Amino acid sequence: MDIRIFESAEKLDLHAAEWFSELINQKPGAVLGLATGSTPIGIYAKLVEQHRSGKVSFAEVTTYNLDEYVGLTPDNDQSYAYYMNQHLFSHVDIPPGNVHLPDGMALDPAAECARYDALLAEHAADVQLLGLGHNGHIGFNEPDEQLSSGTHVVALKEETRQANARFFSSLDEVPKAAYTMGVGSILKAKQILLVVRGSDKAGIVKEALTGPVTTQVPASLLQLHPNVIVLLDQEAGRLLS
Ligand code: F6R
Repeated sequence: MDIRIFESAEKLDLHAAEWFSELINQKPGAVLGLATGSTPIGIYAKLVEQHRSGKVSFAEVTTYNLDEYVGLTPDNDQSYAYYMNQHLFSHVDIPPGNVHLPDGMALDPAAECARYDALLAEHAADVQLLGLGHNGHIGFNEPDEQLSSGTHVVALKEETRQANARFFSSLDEVPKAAYTMGVGSILKAKQILLVVRGSDKAGIVKEALTGPVTTQVPASLLQLHPNVIVLLDQEAGRLLS
């Protein structure tokens, strides 16, 4: 694993955005696996700046997001489709048909999982961007005795709902289920870019990167991938020696 620790959020964001721009400039038709949450917001902002200054074009890029809440429409401001438009897609030149997320409003969840998996099987991601949950989740693959390989619907753990409640007006409004790519799909990406910020995640960073590989810490499975870059701020990396 290639672990890079940054002294400020600004430097981490810039490094990640430049890394993405370089990848896209080398391969204009790159396939990007993307994430939501608070972690990538600054990276997307820098990518938008780089696009505006002519340093990168998304005209041929295709994207696949990790996850989406069940039951939220794309125009619901808490949906991940809305988030992606707000932070990235509506500010760059990516064709709308090139962006993909699970459809939170699909009537047949099993068919929706199969549809998403078929797309992922056809288009291997050049990179999968990941954040890290406090309990070690990646996407919405929560700690468990077993993990699923493909796209599936998960019941969100109470701790994850509580962590995400900050984005909603009350805990009651946080959906109870979400679609997520499975760990098999995540691990199929050619490269993984795991980004973690904040002192509150220092413990889980250490566990995920240096502890045993276990389904109880889904991010620990990243230790099995041959090409992982980890970007940390100093706080998140403080327990790594
Ligand atoms: C988001 C996702 C989640 C988050 C994780 C960290 O698409 O799949 O796994 O990356 O919950 O969230 P933040 O960045 O809000 O701390």
